[in-house]
Amino acid sequence: MSGTSDQIIGDLDVMQEGGKGLVFKVENNQGEVLPAFAVCFDAGYFAYINRCGHIAIPLDYMPGEFFSDDGRTIMCSTHGAEYAPDTGACLGGPCFGIGLEPLAVSAADGKLYLSSDDFCLVEAVDKADHSS
Ligand code: FES
Repeated sequence: MSGTSDQIIGDLDVMQEGGKGLVFKVENNQGEVLPAFAVCFDAGYFAYINRCGHIAIPLDYMPGEFFSDDGRTIMCSTHGAEYAPDTGACLGGPCFGIGLEPLAVSAADGKLYLSSDDFCLVEAVDKADHSS
């Protein structure tokens, strides 16, 4: 399936810089449905497939919680691999140089949009409010 541009992932105002993000699902051109997430960092918005470079499992134990305590790195909750929030590059830990797979996103009019030709949004799920 080919992706279409400008699909709404969620509202920007529920995202916290260095804090809670948005979780959603995408489908790639091979028809695989994959978990994904978006975060705010240094006033920018970044999104990735939610799959650790160490073991192919989601990074977050609590939905929408991706950052280390200091809000400077994305950290896998399972074994502590760390990634750069703005590039997805592996910074340390058991990701062994394998970074996160990025997704193109854009922000406008209070919304975050998936803007990728390679992925299609199949489920926009805002878990940022599900903090219990
Ligand atoms: S599964 Fe992510 S660090 Fe091991």
